[in-house]
Amino acid sequence: MKKTIKDIDVKGKRVIVRCDFNVPIDEQGKITDETRITASLPTLRYLAGQGAKLILMSHMGRPDGEPDMKYTLKPVAERLSVHLGQPVVFVSSPDVVDDAVWAAAEALAPGQALLLENLRFRKGETKNDAAFSKELAGLADIYVNDAFGTAHRAHASTAGIADYLPAVSGFLIEKEVQFLGEAIEHPRHPLLAILGGAKVGDKISVIENLLGKVDGLIIGGGMAYTFFKARGYETGSSILDEKNLELAASLEKKAKEKGVSLLLPEDMKAARAFDNEAESAYFDADKLPPGWMGLDIGPKSVKRFAEAVASAGTVIWNGPMGVFEMPNFAQGTRSLAEALAASDAVTVIGGGDSAAAVEQFGLAGKMSHISTGGGASLEFLEGKILPGIAVIEDK
Ligand code: 3PG
Repeated sequence: MKKTIKDIDVKGKRVIVRCDFNVPIDEQGKITDETRITASLPTLRYLAGQGAKLILMSHMGRPDGEPDMKYTLKPVAERLSVHLGQPVVFVSSPDVVDDAVWAAAEALAPGQALLLENLRFRKGETKNDAAFSKELAGLADIYVNDAFGTAHRAHASTAGIADYLPAVSGFLIEKEVQFLGEAIEHPRHPLLAILGGAKVGDKISVIENLLGKVDGLIIGGGMAYTFFKARGYETGSSILDEKNLELAASLEKKAKEKGVSLLLPEDMKAARAFDNEAESAYFDADKLPPGWMGLDIGPKSVKRFAEAVASAGTVIWNGPMGVFEMPNFAQGTRSLAEALAASDAVTVIGGGDSAAAVEQFGLAGKMSHISTGGGASLEFLEGKILPGIAVIEDK
């Protein structure tokens, strides 16, 4: 068990909190999805309520170690001020830490908060540079990591900083580890994992790790076509991960050996082109004509997958069933999300696309847990120890 902010006394202390405020921003600089900001609020409200002086930090995008105002955290400071009901001080320093930041940190009263500029304006951040970690640590007495979405990165603000300060987790990391960890290690059985998305290559380690834990595995989305090809089916112009055909065959074999029921789509909705308006039709999985590309699962698959969900005790879902961003190919992903929403199972949604899909369909409130981490939740499901969690002190 890792220490959390509940295990330490923060009253009057300077507490530096790593959050993941890497949120999508439109051309006008407006945040289009605040999930990661609202997910940080329980920790921030608790710390402020306890009389801590808060120094908040995050990255946004990949500015590559140079100041780039396209990635400033100013819009985040504005939204945080609204959510916390008090102005959050923001110092937009190109160096992230400088004299003005020091002065602002010194001036904080208990319960007040300061947000630093985008950590990736400094090269030292992604290099996990000790000097940068030390500079950040110098601002505070205690380090709190609550950036689950970035916990798979060993960076100066997620890992190195813990060499210089006592390190505990916030409530978001605690909750993510609890839901994802329980779902894999102590699930209510049957445990069903549903994987989708485009490439088998990206999910090899996840599949391998899950095969040792799950009772059932559904593979849908673009990934399914690599499995179909490996079975010798015609896949038309559907997306294929050519490099991993043999691997797909061996994963099917492994599932059989382990007694895991591996379900692939029985049918699909295919189109003549990668276009929402393209001519489309339904085909059985082994009957796709050349020249067509599968862009969604079909109704037979939806029915079969929904039955599997209905009889599961726990469902872990990562990756959409089709190109849900196009309305004509969203039905498979939508129906699966509805099946999860209607089930009594513990439902855990990996971050990234599946989280976005569940949000888009208005079903987020019906899931047991939606992870704020895309890459981080995948690495967690691979069974990896995430560096940003490893540095947190044990109880
Ligand atoms: C994410 O959005 O997955 C995290 O914020 C990490 O971002 P990164 O992939 O740029 O490290």
